Amino acid sequence: MKPFSLLSAAGLASLVSAASSTTLGRSDNSTYYNPVLPGWHSDPSCTQVDGTFFCATSTFISFPGIPIYASRDLINWKLVSHAWNRESQLPGVSWNTTGQQQGMYAPTLRHHDGEFYVVCEYLVTNNNIGVVFRSADPFSDAAWGDPVLFDAGTIDPDLFWDDDGRAYVATQGIVLQEIDLETGELSRPPVSLWNGTGGVWPEGPHLYRKDGWYYLLIAEGGTELDHSITMARSRNLTGPYEAYECNPVLTNRGTDEYFQTVGHGDLFQDPAGGWWGMSLATRSGPAWEVYPMGREAVLFPVAWDEGEWPVLQPVRGEMSGWTLPPTSREVPGDGPFNSDPDVYDFEAGTPIPRNLVYWRVPREGAFAVTAGGLRVVPSRNNLTGTPYSEATPELSGQQGLSFIGRRQTDTLFAFSVDLTFRPRQAGQEAGVAVFLTQVNHIDLGVVLLPGEGSNSSCASRRKQEAAETQWLALRFRAEGTGEPPEPKTVAVPAGWLDAGPIRLSIEAANATHYSLAAAPAADPDARVVVGTASAALVSGGNGSFVGSLVGAYATCNGAGAGVECPEGGDAYFNRWRYSGLGQYVSETEIV
Ligand SMILES: *[C@@H]1O[C@H](CO)[C@@H](O)[C@H](O)[C@H]1NC(C)=O
Ligand SMILES: *[C@@H]1O[C@H](CO)[C@@H](O)[C@H](O)[C@H]1NC(C)=O
Ligand SMILES: *[C@@H]1O[C@H](CO)[C@@H](O)[C@H](O)[C@H]1NC(C)=O
Ligand SMILES: *[C@@H]1O[C@H](CO)[C@@H](O)[C@H](O)[C@H]1NC(C)=O
Ligand SMILES: *[C@@H]1O[C@H](CO)[C@@H](O)[C@H](O)[C@H]1NC(C)=O
Ligand SMILES: *[C@@H]1O[C@H](CO)[C@@H](O)[C@H](O)[C@H]1NC(C)=O
Ligand SMILES: *[C@@H]1O[C@H](CO)[C@@H](O)[C@H](O)[C@H]1NC(C)=O
Ligand SMILES: *[C@@H]1O[C@H](CO)[C@@H](O)[C@H](O)[C@H]1NC(C)=O
Repeated sequence: MKPFSLLSAAGLASLVSAASSTTLGRSDNSTYYNPVLPGWHSDPSCTQVDGTFFCATSTFISFPGIPIYASRDLINWKLVSHAWNRESQLPGVSWNTTGQQQGMYAPTLRHHDGEFYVVCEYLVTNNNIGVVFRSADPFSDAAWGDPVLFDAGTIDPDLFWDDDGRAYVATQGIVLQEIDLETGELSRPPVSLWNGTGGVWPEGPHLYRKDGWYYLLIAEGGTELDHSITMARSRNLTGPYEAYECNPVLTNRGTDEYFQTVGHGDLFQDPAGGWWGMSLATRSGPAWEVYPMGREAVLFPVAWDEGEWPVLQPVRGEMSGWTLPPTSREVPGDGPFNSDPDVYDFEAGTPIPRNLVYWRVPREGAFAVTAGGLRVVPSRNNLTGTPYSEATPELSGQQGLSFIGRRQTDTLFAFSVDLTFRPRQAGQEAGVAVFLTQVNHIDLGVVLLPGEGSNSSCASRRKQEAAETQWLALRFRAEGTGEPPEPKTVAVPAGWLDAGPIRLSIEAANATHYSLAAAPAADPDARVVVGTASAALVSGGNGSFVGSLVGAYATCNGAGAGVECPEGGDAYFNRWRYSGLGQYVSETEIV
């Protein structure tokens, strides 16, 4: 070893300054709040390139799929693209997807040789499809190419390049296969790497090369209250892998923490060399009954010394860890930041806002920004539809469901939109909904109903001289996990329609309930709360992998033929507003 006295003055100075900046960094730790990516953002996979962090998350059957979020400071995350953003990337696949929780499972996002890669498995009955999307520009939808397909046996592919440049996918199990990224061809048979520590569903693998080791990080215990992250390592890619004696390295199982289901994560470094991880978590407390936002993405600091196992900091609402990069919203791209409010006025010719998503690929022309606002052409299926049948797939929602929504990203929020709607035939309906799945949703619609109702429908009756009488109603209905409230139908008060659009709103004024209300847009004080419903309806159950969306819909409730509703039921939405009113970071603290 070189004696100290032989070090040049400059060398000594740099050594001292390195040591002091490290010390400073540690004593100057940052405080922040989880989740950093609130709302339905499960299975985050992240990487850092030239000082910008990127994360991809699961989207199941919602479309566009696999959002890419970018951040300079790990706190402000901007939606910059979706890896799956065009029907032509996977023709016909979305409309063949019947199950509410099929579709794009957990992706892995990596950067290699100047390109971004997203590898994922799309689940569709009897035909699971492995996909590798590539892009040189993650800030552009168009730059994501058509995927290379591969025949993965199971879900959750990782993508890892070994020192020799060969690429590998590890999947649920945990098994490893080499992949040809040009053709999708996989080596066979898969090599079993590790079965975990005994928890169910060893899955969500990620491989890291560090200090001469291959580190294997996996999720174990299932994505519910027993979820965890465990690790093993080997000197050899194919094993044998030795389990860490202090597993799990991260979990909140068996605790009474507000953040539960912590698991399925990924590790990455900041530009200063500090390690971090993102994983999913559910803000449910151990009762795990009310968690409409589903599985959200949380950030935790990681201390990972040379040759040692990493130390992952337990997930809480308020966190303290490595100094965060300086706050910055200087991120390219034209998408919104995930935590920003929506203020959308749908000026003709503008694109549909990037954070609004659909349930499967929409029918062509179903959504358009027109001079009248956001036009939604109704789907024959309502938000529930009928169970899938080959004879009438259009009534199952499979061939397009006219719903558009954004993630509920806040425990407490207010959402409203102004509806212009002139239904002509019974069954035509348009409204707003909290939507988890087709069997978990809470709706408030304006609907034309057949039969004798109230006199408020005289206007529409006069207009069309239909043989049967019809009346216009505000209809509240809910279905989902647990006990839904009784549906409620009240006449649209006289004069509301003549006064212009109707403002429909959804509010979460507390953490457990939504209230759905209507008012003439011109007279918001005339607001009537039509119904309230428990957020437990849109928590778990048939939608345990997904998270609630808040948005607008139009339907003709099965009238019409094929995929076409009777004419005249188009709905126009204007003045779309969503604003967060509070985040719970524990059972009792709101930030
Ligand atoms: C969709 O399903 C139909 C009927 O099962 C099948 O014939 C068709 O090949 C499928 N298309 C795709 C793209 O999977
Ligand atoms: C994991 O379990 C399977 C099935 O029991 C077994 O075939 C395989 O060898 C195990 N893998 C390892 C790495 O122990
Ligand atoms: C590493 O794997 C290779 C073949 O895959 C094998 O020949 C070698 O013995 C392994 N080394 C160790 C230390 O297990
Ligand atoms: C700063 O954060 C790191 C990473 O979480 C942790 O290891 C360290 O103990 C913290 N230092 C202080 C002084 O809290
Ligand atoms: C409609 O109004 C008329 C006259 O005001 C009244 O006699 C009738 O009962 C009303 N019908 C309904 C269904 O309310
Ligand atoms: C939450 O709001 C609902 C509906 O407004 C109400 O019934 C319930 O009592 C509220 N819960 C709490 C804890 O305030
Ligand atoms: C919802 O869950 C129930 C109970 O697990 C199941 O029987 C039903 O088929 C599910 N419905 C849908 C649409 O997935
Ligand atoms: C939803 O649509 C189905 C037909 O697709 C219909 O049977 C059902 O009654 C509708 N629900 C309501 C509340 O109108």
